[in-house]
Amino acid sequence: MTSEKMIIQIKEWLKEAAGYIQVSLTNKLLVSQKSNRKDLVTNIDEETQAFFIKKINQNYPNDRILAEEKGFDTIESLAGRVWIIDPIDGTMNFVMEQENFCIMIAVYEDGVGQLGFIYDVMKDELYWGGRKQGVFLNDQKLQQPKDTALSKGLLGMNAYMYGKNIYAAGEIGHASMGIRVSGCAGIELIAMLKGNHIGYISNLSPWDYAAGLVLLNEFGYKYSNIEGKPLAFAKREYFLAATPTAYAQIQKDFIRN
Ligand code: IPD
Ligand code: CA
Ligand code: CA
Ligand code: CA
Repeated sequence: MTSEKMIIQIKEWLKEAAGYIQVSLTNKLLVSQKSNRKDLVTNIDEETQAFFIKKINQNYPNDRILAEEKGFDTIESLAGRVWIIDPIDGTMNFVMEQENFCIMIAVYEDGVGQLGFIYDVMKDELYWGGRKQGVFLNDQKLQQPKDTALSKGLLGMNAYMYGKNIYAAGEIGHASMGIRVSGCAGIELIAMLKGNHIGYISNLSPWDYAAGLVLLNEFGYKYSNIEGKPLAFAKREYFLAATPTAYAQIQKDFIRN
């Protein structure tokens, strides 16, 4: 069970973490490489994750955690209540731009998304919501975006997939009104929640999409791995989310033909 109290707590933790992240930008970041020179992690990613893990362990000691950094990046199943955390989504933007990054937190129960939070720290915009509760920007309830066709809307895209035309991403982009590349999954998902983008094609890990799926679900968006199978919450997968009409068009015209 999730509760009003849990929502209030998560919002408080997010504000505290965001304050810490903003102050940290006035100090020198400790940046290291993970798998390659473009895959970065900073001391702030790790410290932010540690902050949330401590809060969850103190308040919900029986819950389990899946999170991107340091020892929490695998989980054997989604049984019971599981917190899925990306402490800083868009680390490259965080390091290079000091904006266009988010904190993302999701709460799942037996594999079903219950709560989702995407916090654009530098804009102080918290997109959040819960199963059958709708989607909010800070305290304001958002309206469900229109079911726009592929040819009529902008599409968020992973730069590598677009450049290499993986899963016809270049052609799908051409069929849309245009592609946009933010370098941050959370920012792309926010653009869909606002109705600014009709979809997002990328290569994502569970913590990149867990919070977003709870919110996309409330607005009737379709999502899956790019071949149309359910997302596994286990490894990186090619990801597609779009309005129902655009999703069906992409599957029919570009993926399944
Ligand atoms: C990354 C960003 C990026 C997406 C990558 C993610 P990170 O997250 O969301 O936009 O293309 O797949 O890994 O590593 O900065 O949290
Ligand atoms: Ca990362
Ligand atoms: Ca991420
Ligand atoms: Ca991250």
